[in-house]
Amino acid sequence: MTRKDFIINACTTCLSATAVTSLLTSCTVTRYIPGNLVTNGLTVSKDAFAISQKGNTAYRSFIIIRNDTLQYPICVYRFDDHSYSAVWMRCTHQGSELLASGDFLQCPAHGSEFTNKGQVTNGPADNNLRTFPVIATLTELFIDLRKPS
Ligand code: FES
Repeated sequence: MTRKDFIINACTTCLSATAVTSLLTSCTVTRYIPGNLVTNGLTVSKDAFAISQKGNTAYRSFIIIRNDTLQYPICVYRFDDHSYSAVWMRCTHQGSELLASGDFLQCPAHGSEFTNKGQVTNGPADNNLRTFPVIATLTELFIDLRKPS
């Protein structure tokens, strides 16, 4: 093996390891679930937000509901045990699917940004996202798909 081949091989291996590490990290951060379709909406267990670490429970700030019956996913944000928001992940500019990034949503097409309650903060989009009422019970959330705002 020549020196040049060694360097190319080493860089390729290093980049592959970095890509796999990044992929695994992103998978552990964002949780995708299908939710349960019920009359007039979806239900999601509150446990979907929980992360058990060394005997303690932490909570994800959001999860994403993605299933075949939804044209776009719904990002569900958790503010506390009783307070949630459900945001339709369709950009109001030209309809691209949004990316959830921490406490805001970003459009990969032209850069619009929205809060975790669906309010537009950065254009070119000039309308807020559709949101759905969320009713929290002791153990689960009901996302009412009949009344988007
Ligand atoms: S489609 Fe989202 S900013 Fe253009």
